[in-house]
Amino acid sequence: MESGRAAHPSLEGRRILLGITGSIAAYKAAVLCRLLKTAGADVRVVMTPLAKQFITPLTMATLSKNPILVEFFDPENGAWNSHVSLGEWADCLLIAPATANTLAKMRGGVADNLLLTTYLSARCPVVVAPAMDLDMYAHAATQENLRTLADRGVKIVEPAAGELASGLVGKGRMAEPEEITAYLDSLFARREKKKTLQGKRFVVTAGATIEPIDPVRYITNHSSGKMGYAIAEELARRGAEVVLVSGRTSLPAPAGVERRDVLSADEMFDATTAAFDRADGAVMCAAVADYTPAEVSATKLKKGDGDLTLALRRTRDIAASLGACKGNRILVGFALETDHEAANAQAKLSKKNFDFVVLNSLRDAGAGFRGDTNKVTFIDRSGSEELPLMTKHDVAARIVDKIESLAAER
Ligand code: CTP
Repeated sequence: MESGRAAHPSLEGRRILLGITGSIAAYKAAVLCRLLKTAGADVRVVMTPLAKQFITPLTMATLSKNPILVEFFDPENGAWNSHVSLGEWADCLLIAPATANTLAKMRGGVADNLLLTTYLSARCPVVVAPAMDLDMYAHAATQENLRTLADRGVKIVEPAAGELASGLVGKGRMAEPEEITAYLDSLFARREKKKTLQGKRFVVTAGATIEPIDPVRYITNHSSGKMGYAIAEELARRGAEVVLVSGRTSLPAPAGVERRDVLSADEMFDATTAAFDRADGAVMCAAVADYTPAEVSATKLKKGDGDLTLALRRTRDIAASLGACKGNRILVGFALETDHEAANAQAKLSKKNFDFVVLNSLRDAGAGFRGDTNKVTFIDRSGSEELPLMTKHDVAARIVDKIESLAAER
């Protein structure tokens, strides 16, 4: 059998703060703690007061080889358990099991125990493994809490379906310790700075274009630029040289990325085609206006009594133009659809000569503009792969994984 270290190499030396809340699944936290320790992680445990009723601090202290933290201070000697330094210490805060009560408090910013205060001040990734009765899990309040937490970047290891402590059968049973350990291992593996794209150059377009009507008015769209910025950041993290051609957004440029600001679709066309000349590939994430005012008035248009009709002309399609001359280079496109999603995305794949299309449907909850999560499907010439709801950073990592394997084939 593979040893813990060989099976989960990215957990070696990681500092995991394991939060345990008052659920019958707390007994699984003992196995989880042992698996993390076997993989070489340093584990400290914070328990909520109720969690002590389900598993003893002595068990967890013995397994983690560290004293257990429950209170804000030690009643014997007054020593302060600083939630701020705990949050700073941790590479990851893992709350397993996470009860419906704790998830609701996390969402609401309630700070009535050491675990919750630590959560509120933690800057590291936070992972929760919910555990509860099936009706509590399915309840709109819990589902809304989980969606909001996911929107804020909390990672969720979904519960499994099976027999529950209540005797009922359904979804709510905490994921198995082995699954949670593997999840953390892959989380850290993705964060390791493997320079797999060293020497490669990529162009990424992101954000919304702005098409002026007159000196004070313009046509634009809802794109926040978050998805494209996350992709540019991930490409740079893996060693690629990245030119980010950015329309309007309020985001700061990611570290190590060269940003070229543009306004209109025409400006984006020129900046992107120029950068593509020296590139190994491009990711077309921008929401480019398909039409722009045929004439831009030099002075402010004054209103009249009647309606106004604006003449619009087609903009040039940047992706299609790169697709026509791409040769062996990698070209990734996006498709945002509201209906006939798969067929529309397939049509874009061949029309614009993309290597693959990242499809998001506005019909999926948690996908689309502004939010921090996305739910996408990859479509290429061999078929499609539907991914679950995840943060835009995780989606970016999966897109760059796919780019990486295409680059290795060329
Ligand atoms: N795109 C582009 N230049 C344009 C329009 C779109 O580079 N002028 C890119 C987008 O960045 C995206 C892909 O093409 O990667 C698909 O864009 P989308 O607007 O969804 O599709 P359209 O081709 O505009 O088709 P439709 O309006 O019919 O949905």
